[in-house]
Amino acid sequence: MSTTRRFFGKAFKYFGVGVVAPFCGVAAAYSVFHKPPTGTATITLKDTPIGPTIPREQVAAKYDELPDFFRSKAQKFGEYMSGITGLRYSLIARAYGDVLELACGPASNLEFYQLRIVNKLVMCDISPKMIEAAKEQALAFAIERESRGNLRPKNLQLKVKDAHDMSEFADASFDTVVDTFGLCSYEDPVRVLQEMKRIVKPTGFVLLLEHGASGIQSLDNIIYSGVERHAAKYGCVHNRDIDELVKRAGLFVDDTKKVAFGTVTAVVARPIDVQLVPSPIKREATEAEKEAARKSRSGGHHH
Ligand SMILES: C[S@@+](CC[C@H](N)C(=O)[O-])C[C@H]1O[C@@H](n2cnc3c(N)ncnc32)[C@H](O)[C@@H]1O
Repeated sequence: MSTTRRFFGKAFKYFGVGVVAPFCGVAAAYSVFHKPPTGTATITLKDTPIGPTIPREQVAAKYDELPDFFRSKAQKFGEYMSGITGLRYSLIARAYGDVLELACGPASNLEFYQLRIVNKLVMCDISPKMIEAAKEQALAFAIERESRGNLRPKNLQLKVKDAHDMSEFADASFDTVVDTFGLCSYEDPVRVLQEMKRIVKPTGFVLLLEHGASGIQSLDNIIYSGVERHAAKYGCVHNRDIDELVKRAGLFVDDTKKVAFGTVTAVVARPIDVQLVPSPIKREATEAEKEAARKSRSGGHHH
């Protein structure tokens, strides 16, 4: 088989996160031309922000088969074409201090960290095969970086770990918590987001890059139609409402950006609300205070 045929063969075989680009082309055409039959009940995102769930052990077994796909050229190409690589770059660049990354896969984000501002990096994934692949990636990377004197390998930890059980991490113990394309596979994504909120320091950030429903009804109709099959096959529920999940977990969103027709969302969130609120010093004076001020201006005399 030619290299080109192998390349596209793989891309279509798996249909993962990064192969969103061809999917979006078809979806866009469908959303323009397809008119749903009148009278069909439309499912709204708010009804099912989580969708079908797959037990964790099954998810781990499924991803154990996929490290090669997630580091393949087809995957990287798909991510590049759909704008995901650009978002990885700008989002991961914000990670600083002590960083925890969940569902790290084969350490796809390692090349995007700004190592001058990262002190410690703990990467976790439920799949032992993914962690093996991540170790290979870290090794290749560390050798390259060490020669430039940036990465201290002792500060990089790779662990097989379920994101639902993070009791080993103390409250407010990391400056940054990162999760890219993990929420689609969690049995309880809101619980995992709440754990991220607990673990991150009040001054820190939760950085997310996730795929899910687009918010464009006709496109979401297609996404919904294949979700059960896709979830059963890959352990990934691709119609989750990411904005809604983040809101339900009580995180505060600083910034958000969407690509691939809204199916991919980057979120910069904080555990506490730091929006500017009206200063209590500048509050509106009460009627009694206004009256007192009037009196004092007029020297207390009435004419
Ligand atoms: C779509 S891949 C994303 C990998 C990587 N973060 C990236 O951006 O390419 C999803 C990853 O989530 C992991 N995962 C699924 N459920 C998990 C869980 N409950 N805890 C930790 N990792 C999990 C899978 O093993 C897989 O590596």
